[in-house]
Amino acid sequence: MTESPGPRPSFRELGWPRSTERLRILPATPEHSAAHWEFWRLPEVGTWLGWAPRDRADWDETYPEKSPDFLTVEHGGRVIGTLMLHVEDGWAQREIAEQAVGVHAEIGWVFHPDAAGRGLATEAVMDLLDFCFSELGLRRVQAGAFAANEPSVRLMERIGMRRESYSVKESLHRDLGWLDGVMYAILAEEWRARTPGGSGC
Ligand SMILES: CC(C)(COP(=O)(O)OP(=O)(O)OC[C@H]1O[C@@H](n2cnc3c(N)ncnc32)[C@H](O)[C@@H]1OP(=O)(O)O)[C@@H](O)C(=O)NCCC(=O)NCCS
Repeated sequence: MTESPGPRPSFRELGWPRSTERLRILPATPEHSAAHWEFWRLPEVGTWLGWAPRDRADWDETYPEKSPDFLTVEHGGRVIGTLMLHVEDGWAQREIAEQAVGVHAEIGWVFHPDAAGRGLATEAVMDLLDFCFSELGLRRVQAGAFAANEPSVRLMERIGMRRESYSVKESLHRDLGWLDGVMYAILAEEWRARTPGGSGC
């Protein structure tokens, strides 16, 4: 049996903030709550989200529970986006389950509409993948969306995630009823092949 790798640090304990060409990215804190609320509150942002705040009180009550998985994305000193990173265990058979602890992640993103159309979300999610593979040493990252959420689907394809499933009428939308869902994923080796020479290697 292979030796178990030992406990992994929380992503919040690693080197922050991170900087990209146009962005600064850091773990969300209680002080960031109001800035994230500025765009999470917008109906056009909430329409495709699994969880959208009903009002400010709902946001304030829920932020402490949700924000441990949030990253704050700043552009020009202003908060323009939220990244979500949830590290989880891979599925494994009992005898080797320790080897699958904390090796996968589910990611997500929510950006202010006034920051749209400039590749800023793409830049942020690319950096998040780099962080997942090069800093956290994850082996697989996945994300899901309603199939009709075209900007998100385009984003996943743009950054090289692979469509793994298309499920017909499997996700219940609060206004539109049962809709099709998609799951995308990328493996560490696929990321390395896509970013040769980058820190994702
Ligand atoms: C999903 C979401 C982040 C995508 O936003 P976006 O503005 O399309 O994404 P980007 O900031 O990466 O910009 C990409 C767009 O800018 C264009 N662009 C311009 N300059 C670019 C650059 N330097 N690099 C990449 N794209 C660039 C791209 O062509 C693309 O446009 P297109 O999709 O019409 O082809 C945004 O729609 C959002 O937050 N939605 C609400 C929340 C949500 O649905 N979250 C996901 C739930 S699953």
